[in-house]
Amino acid sequence: EMPTPVMAIESSCDDTACAIVTTDGRILAETTLSQSGHVPFGGVVPEIAARAHLSALPALVRDTLAAANLQPHDLGAIAASCGPGLIGGLIVGADMGKGMAIALDRPFIAVNHIEAHALTARLPGIAPNGAPFPYLLLLVSGGHCQCIAVEGVGHYRRLGGTIDDAAGEAFDKVAKMLGLGWPGGPAVEQLAREGDPHAVALPRPLMGRAGCDFSFSGLKTAVAQKLPTEVRTALSRQQAADLAASFQQAVSDIVIDRLGHALEMMERPTTLVVAGGVAANGVLRARLREFASAHDLPFAAPPLRLCTDNAVMVAWAAIETMHARRDLGLPIPDDIAMRPRP
Ligand code: KG4
Ligand code: ZN
Repeated sequence: EMPTPVMAIESSCDDTACAIVTTDGRILAETTLSQSGHVPFGGVVPEIAARAHLSALPALVRDTLAAANLQPHDLGAIAASCGPGLIGGLIVGADMGKGMAIALDRPFIAVNHIEAHALTARLPGIAPNGAPFPYLLLLVSGGHCQCIAVEGVGHYRRLGGTIDDAAGEAFDKVAKMLGLGWPGGPAVEQLAREGDPHAVALPRPLMGRAGCDFSFSGLKTAVAQKLPTEVRTALSRQQAADLAASFQQAVSDIVIDRLGHALEMMERPTTLVVAGGVAANGVLRARLREFASAHDLPFAAPPLRLCTDNAVMVAWAAIETMHARRDLGLPIPDDIAMRPRP
């Protein structure tokens, strides 16, 4: 079978992305634009996001085709993220993709955004062993925090997840408290380098409890209580760094504890896989690598640009879906059920 290029669009949150990946997993072109219009608001504003996707996508699609040196009719299929995410942006991306598919008379593949994160590690070259099914996935991003048993394409078993905030959300809120701006994860990590991870005593909610649910809300509140109530500037840089480092340490401790339980809830995973924006965190990555090696598990973490939202993962999930359906003798589903929630 000749490898064919598949184009994908990602527009579920504040990143507008387009990529072209061949059916044998070669990335021909990828572009991600991080929207800047949200910065003054300290968080993603859904309507600003949808409008920004709408204005950025046409040029982005053209540029991505040009970067891959392809014409539209060279594409074998078009895919887009269809949820979960912010509905306005999702509709913009899916509409664009579906429109192209109609014009080119190619299949349109609606991709679940979480599934795209979940399958990224199977892109050739990422996992040391190719991440055969079943594997244990830790998905940690701004919107999600879950342990998932990935048993096959379309076969995902949620082992546990957050009962309040997502991990990235906690990073973003702590960054805001420390006056570090938004998005906060990378800023917290950077400041934490100057701090002592054991300087401030912080709680580790749900740690040691059965199952692998997460809770970060109490940790976030505990951080808030360590801040001077009157003037924020009363916190010295060293104190802020200690707080950031201690928070990061607490999050890592929680994640490792929860993963220990997740591992027990799964039968013989082949690999430990991490995905989502928070997987970009160096301290957490090091702890995960250590954990995997202690359990004799190969560890797979996508490169940073494929951890945060991107369109390569959407294209790859579409390709895996196409292959799985073909192997089952099933047609590609043509429905677009736009879903803001998982
Ligand atoms: O996967 P992602 O790009 O978007 C969602 O689907 O949510 O994840 C974004 C989240 C943000 O909360 C951001 O603060 C967090 O990932 N993040 C980090 C780091 N880089 C991004 N958190 C901790 N450390 C980082 N280095
Ligand atoms: Zn995401």
